[in-house]
Amino acid sequence: MTTGNPVNTGKRSAQWFGATGRAGMNHRAWMRSQGFTSEVFDGRPVIGIATTWSELAPCNVHLHRVAESVKRGVWQSGGFPLEFPAMALGETLLRPTAMLYRNLLAMEAEELIRANPLDGVVLLSGCDKTTPGLLMAAASTGLPAIMVTGGPMLSGKYQGTDVGSGTAVWRWEEDLLAGRMTQEECAFAEGCMARSNGHCMTMGTASTMASMAEALGMQLPYSATWPAVDARRYETAQRAGQVIVDLVNSGLTPADIMTRQAFENAIRVNAAIGGSTNAVIHLLAIAGRLGVPLKLDDFDALARDVPTLVNLQPSGKYLMEDFCYAGGLPAVMRELGDLLHTDALTVTGASVGDNVKDAPCWNRDVIFPLDSPFQPAGSGTAVLRGNLAPNGAVVKQSAASPRLLKHRGRALVFDSQEAYYQVATDPELDVDEDTVLVIRYCGPKGYPGMPEVANVPVPARLLKQGVTDIVRICDGRMSGTAYGTVVLHVAPEAAAGGPLALVRTGDWISLDVPSRTLTLEVPDEELTARRAGWTAPPPPASRGWTWLYTQHVGQADTGADLDFLVGGSGAAVGREGH
Ligand code: FES
Repeated sequence: MTTGNPVNTGKRSAQWFGATGRAGMNHRAWMRSQGFTSEVFDGRPVIGIATTWSELAPCNVHLHRVAESVKRGVWQSGGFPLEFPAMALGETLLRPTAMLYRNLLAMEAEELIRANPLDGVVLLSGCDKTTPGLLMAAASTGLPAIMVTGGPMLSGKYQGTDVGSGTAVWRWEEDLLAGRMTQEECAFAEGCMARSNGHCMTMGTASTMASMAEALGMQLPYSATWPAVDARRYETAQRAGQVIVDLVNSGLTPADIMTRQAFENAIRVNAAIGGSTNAVIHLLAIAGRLGVPLKLDDFDALARDVPTLVNLQPSGKYLMEDFCYAGGLPAVMRELGDLLHTDALTVTGASVGDNVKDAPCWNRDVIFPLDSPFQPAGSGTAVLRGNLAPNGAVVKQSAASPRLLKHRGRALVFDSQEAYYQVATDPELDVDEDTVLVIRYCGPKGYPGMPEVANVPVPARLLKQGVTDIVRICDGRMSGTAYGTVVLHVAPEAAAGGPLALVRTGDWISLDVPSRTLTLEVPDEELTARRAGWTAPPPPASRGWTWLYTQHVGQADTGADLDFLVGGSGAAVGREGH
């Protein structure tokens, strides 16, 4: 039997496991209650595996198994892996919205990483908010980190056709409202959509953020696209376990990888893949943790000359499984060539350019070439400004109707999505195809948590006339799986006293995406008078997390992080407390 003596190698973890005396004994003895041999305290890198798995977060439920593969890689490379749970945020169940808890996950994971004897961390995420939440945490601690996302579900199959999670639900909801589908057909269809482990398999927010993690250089090439049930997902996880040990040994940190250049790459990749508008908020928040100067307008400026190359739902036809088989994100990044900073560093220790230089494309109907793209340059996310959104708003052009990108119509205003749903099926609702639907008090403070409610369905009266899209304006977000001409993230939000709160039904609103303007055609004097009569809604909570959140959350144009979490505190070890 090996007894082993504690070794102080100067690693962070050695401050716990390499200590002599009572403290060191405590740290080691209780770990040995798990049956570890004493060699694990020989000074090898201790690797945390932050796992956001839960049966309440179905997209992440397999991450416990992914963690086992990561552990193999860590052991293989001479590290000591320790899995720990971090808050699992499931998009479909959490109320009022998972976004209310992104910053709580980030705060929890940051503190767990800092408070424990870890030298590096592997971040296991999947469902939408878990990826940015864990990246924010890693950024604020500064320990070496690598991400492994859980991968997309297999393609949904319904009546002989592929159906995309989320995207199909929006369509079926409208089909139900328009009488094109029965409730029984919907119940059958829902069982055909989500048919394996994994996150949504459209280019929704989860797929987008997995791609952003890869584009930022924080996860291994191809890691965003292997299906959740593909053996190569587990192979990649094992490889990530090896790589995190290398990262600890080399001392490469998230700040070395997620530089301004890396964020510029991510924004350009987001345009090329037709990614979710939620990437705007999440990338701003991650950059804020690192002190990287990133602004809302960067998303417009950097995306303008990038065409959409990937033909995936909701902007296109295919699903993540097809994207994987066509060559995945490396094929897209290779295609983008000099539009990217190819010398940006990644967790592999190699540059972006080296990682993707030989990446093949196997299907040009899924990944289009740069010189003959799926959609022309400038069809990505546009940033709008005007007297209705002084601090900005965004619209995803590739998911919008081209005829509505320059539009003028009368406002029909609702103070909540629930108020709209009460009348959405009213055959007498006073709407026409030019109506501009305004849904407000859905921002970070207002709802609270800035839910994905902006893409409310087109009124049933219009759907029955064959109108499939109208302009909608909201201070909330839209699911990455959704589509339509929807102006989102209006800042400041109505609950913070933004001009959106002053709109009245019947006001004229003009949207001019080519000019990047959003205008409420009401004279300034009238708006001043309306403001004098406006009162802020009462806070949605008087205690607990929701109270803390609404007191400190920032607006969408800065990433909706909590003001006291912006930046980082490093990973310095605290005092011994017992
Ligand atoms: Fe989890 Fe879509 S609901 S990724």
